[in-house]
Parts: sequence; structure tokens; C-alpha cells
Amino acid sequence: MAVINRIAEFHDDMTAWRRHLHAHPETAFEEHRTADFVAARLGEFGIEVHRGLARTGVVGTLKAGSGRGRAIALRADIDALPIAEETGLPYRSTVPGKMHACGHDGHTAMLLGAARYLAETRAFDGTVHFLFQPAEENEGGAWVMIEEGLFDRFPVEAVYGLHNWPSLPAGTFGVRAGPVMAAFDTFEVRVHGKGAHGAMPHLAVDPVVVASQLVNAYQTIVSRTLDPCDAAVVSVTLIQGGSTWNVIPDSVVMRGTTRHFRPEVQDRIERRLEEITANVALAFGARAEFAYFRNYPATVNPEAEARAAAAAAGDVVGTANVAWQEKPSMAAEDFAFLLQRRPGCYLWLGAGKGADAVNVHNPRYDFNDDILAVGASYWARLVERELAKGGG
Ligand code: NI
Repeated sequence: MAVINRIAEFHDDMTAWRRHLHAHPETAFEEHRTADFVAARLGEFGIEVHRGLARTGVVGTLKAGSGRGRAIALRADIDALPIAEETGLPYRSTVPGKMHACGHDGHTAMLLGAARYLAETRAFDGTVHFLFQPAEENEGGAWVMIEEGLFDRFPVEAVYGLHNWPSLPAGTFGVRAGPVMAAFDTFEVRVHGKGAHGAMPHLAVDPVVVASQLVNAYQTIVSRTLDPCDAAVVSVTLIQGGSTWNVIPDSVVMRGTTRHFRPEVQDRIERRLEEITANVALAFGARAEFAYFRNYPATVNPEAEARAAAAAAGDVVGTANVAWQEKPSMAAEDFAFLLQRRPGCYLWLGAGKGADAVNVHNPRYDFNDDILAVGASYWARLVERELAKGGG
């Protein structure tokens, strides 16, 4: 791997930063200590620090060269998850019920490593904004930063992001032009029936039976109403109702998620969920409340920026280790909001440890420190290419 030598020299520091962050995880919009840590490091590197966007966001600004160059943004997410860690590592979470189970500790350490190198070398012409973004997990911190004026205060021509990806081998990158992560919506259904003794179902309107019919009927949305070439997911992930063996409850609550890539598909899924819910409930003499929430849009990479990102990744690991991905992931990412407003690229940094690979959002997951210098070198090369000295 041709990581940048000077960045390889930071490996021990980046590892120490990463493990410090890992031991002190903070969840959405509460990343105060994390933000303090990031701001202190940026300050040490001589980078201008701006704080307070989306409460705990930190933006580092570094200019070099003629003052006429372009501006780009590099983004790392800094939040942890509400998961109880089970790794038993010496630097495991010290906060009960919270854990860096998605590698955002590693993303933060890599972007700090790149910031330190770029502040030292300044071998570019233009402006880099380092975005340390809170609340990527479910809470849409990227959207809040935009709403609070991110691109007005820090104007950029392009924005780049990455995620470590345990199913790709360490020392490789996965990139894709077009959709790379799905849109993510949620829904909630409350089925209101009529409770009764479990032995006297004729006196009840059983919401458990209605909910069961709904789960099955929802399965026909993807299989029977969407074009088979449109990828989508409809999953019921929670059913709550009743409290014992012999009582039919009054109501049942169901929750679930949908994933898709195109607005037309999103509209159709929402409409069919609502129609099926109302009409199946009616057919059984029950009543249902339905709520649908549009959360993250699809993450879509424009072709030109995907090629730029792939070229920078190729400089670090060799083009043979940059894999153009055939398929997007059905997982979601709030980087989508940034890509709705500026061109850019979100790519996957291989993090796999072979047969031992544990995927993200698992209580036994740990970020692979072997890739810290690879990710930081990618960021540095991307800046040096996109803001090339003497370039147009
Ligand atoms: Ni993540």
C-alpha cells in the first residue's frame, strides 16, 4: 500500500486518538467531549476552528496557495450508537449502553490525521473545510448543519465522505457512480380492535389477527406492485400488543422501515402501505392509525466526482484495489443531504479482517486501526488532486 509516508508516521497518534474516542462514546447531538477533542487537535495543527453548527458540529478551515483556488469539504461523522459493547477490549466503552459500533471513531481519527498532514504540507491551492458532523445515526445531523447555514458560511464546490466497510478487504476501496445508499423511511401502525377474554374471541375484534394479516399483506408491495427492476425493502421490525396468555388485547402497535432509491417508488410504497392498512383493518372490523416518516433520501454520487474519488483512492492503494461496485447498499446515510446540495462522492473504505470481520452495528464490532493511514492518505491525496497547485 502506498500510504503517504508522513501520514504513516502519525499511525500511533491516530490509533491513540481513535481508542480515546472509542472509550468515550457520545450519541446524537451530545458529542460535547468528542467535539472538544476534535477542536483541540485542529487548534494544535494551526487550523481555524468553528464550533456550534448542529450543536456539537466542528468545522476546521485550512487555506493554502494563491487565494483563488476552489473550496471542497471533507466530512467525518462523530457520533456513537446506543449499543452495549461486548468486545472486552482494553479501550472498550466506559459509558454504559453506548458504543462506537459503526467506526465513526475511526472516521474522526482519519480526518484528523489528514488535517494534520495538510496543515503541515499545504501542497494545494484552495480551501479545505473539515466537517466533523454529529448525529449521523438516525437523527440527520447533516441536515441540521445545512439548515443552520453550513454551505452559506463555508461555501464549497464539492463535498466528500467515506465509511469503513468490513465486508470489503482492508487496503481496498469500493466506489460507485449513481445510487450508493438507499433512502430510509419509517412507519408506525396502531391497530385498534376490541379486547376480550382469550376464550371468547367472538366478543372481540382481535388486533393481533389484524396485525398478522397486515404483515403478510405488506409483503405484496415489493413483490406485486413495484417494477421488479426497482430495488426496495418493506420490513415490519416491531409488533407490540397484549400482556398475557388469556386476554385478547385492545390494540397492537407495529413499526417498520422502508428502503428505496427513486421518489416514484417511495410515493408508491407509502400509498400502498396506507391503503392496505386502512382496508385490511376495515375488513376485520378494526380501525388503524397510520403514520409515515420520510427520513434520509438516497445517497447518489455524480459520475465526475466518483471518478475523482476513485483516482485519489487509486493513488493510495493502486487502481487494482479500487473496486467499482455493481450494487448499492440498502442501508442509509445522511450524507445524502449534503449530496442533494453539492456534487461529491461517498465511498467505502475496505476494513475487513478476513474471516474475523464483524459488521457495523454489532456489539462485538471494533474499527480496524490498520486502515487509519489508508483513509487519511486518501483524504490528503483527494485534496492535493482536486485543489492541485497550478490547476484550473
Ligand atoms: Ni456509520
